[in-house]
Amino acid sequence: MILVTGGAGYIGSVTVELLRARGEEVVILDDLKRGHRGAVPAGVPFYEGHIGDADLVARIAAEHELESCIHFAALAYVGESVNEPARYFDNNVTQATALLDSLLKAGVRRLVFSSTCATYGEPQKVPISEDHPQQPTNPYGWSKLFCERIMESYDRAYGLKFVALRYFNASGATENLGEQHDPETHLLPNVMAAAMGRLPFVSVFGDDYPTGDGTAVRDYIHVADLGEAHILALKHLREGGESERINLGNGQGYSVLEVIETARQVTGQPIEARMEPRRAGDPSHLVADAQKAHTLLGWRPRYPDLAAIIRTDWEWRQKHPRGYDPA
Ligand SMILES: NC(=O)c1ccc[n+]([C@@H]2O[C@H](COP(=O)([O-])OP(=O)(O)OC[C@H]3O[C@@H](n4cnc5c(N)ncnc54)[C@H](O)[C@@H]3O)[C@@H](O)[C@H]2O)c1
Repeated sequence: MILVTGGAGYIGSVTVELLRARGEEVVILDDLKRGHRGAVPAGVPFYEGHIGDADLVARIAAEHELESCIHFAALAYVGESVNEPARYFDNNVTQATALLDSLLKAGVRRLVFSSTCATYGEPQKVPISEDHPQQPTNPYGWSKLFCERIMESYDRAYGLKFVALRYFNASGATENLGEQHDPETHLLPNVMAAAMGRLPFVSVFGDDYPTGDGTAVRDYIHVADLGEAHILALKHLREGGESERINLGNGQGYSVLEVIETARQVTGQPIEARMEPRRAGDPSHLVADAQKAHTLLGWRPRYPDLAAIIRTDWEWRQKHPRGYDPA
């Protein structure tokens, strides 16, 4: 049985869907602060609570035979982390450390961890490979980098084997699961909200970055491709593989304005963009060198094309106009 923390969230729920399609058994732990009960499939054991609650994790381990953990649960907004670092370090580091201790107590020594390109900070060279220096520009990135370092120490001392997957920008949807956050700070859901007439315009934070059109450049990766990479990372650990840090991206950068323009083409809607000042903590340019994921895990993204990724998101919103909210 795999413990999936944050399995009611965006990437976690899609990964659970893919794991179940492979016949894997999962149990979900999520406090539902940012996730949705409706994103948890019927029949999957679900525990509502914090990853830092040692008694709860011990109870889950007593009620299910855990062999590994995929740890998604975290607060994940750059801007929020700049304003509320204490909350981020408590949730993402202190609670995560307690989770690791609970896992070790339960005899679980395999962990796939959601890390992030935000651990690199402002890049010295692009595309970014795994050996690029890590110098985060915001507390969110630091919280994930601290977790990487803690897992390295736990590997050395206690034999915890982990794969830290450093995702670039998750995006897109499957037929039944998509991205819905409140508040929403990610670009694509806000672009879609503007396309659906729910927002009057999309805010573009900063047009004076050292990029082609001055807006920030990111590498967009489909959420199902991310999910597949977790399954491959788990396979790597089950086969006795060493701890690894692996980038997940498409290796292609798109500026904010390019994303909005592509979304206009996909949706046929006139999406208005408004320039605003830069947001604190945002690097200018984040594009992955994902060669290691290809060679070490055998990972092949099915959605390398931005328009195809955006189309899956648009289709999900057309099919589920209220998202996970009750009708
Ligand atoms: N979305 C991205 O582009 C992106 C990029 C890089 C890394 N990540 C990382 O991937 C993971 C998943 O991201 P997401 O976009 O699916 O976020 P999400 O907010 O949709 O999912 C996270 C889930 O974790 C739960 N959670 C948070 N703290 C918890 C705690 N202390 N105890 C129990 N549950 C808790 C939330 O309720 C939520 O359901 C996060 O760790 C995030 O940092 C995301």
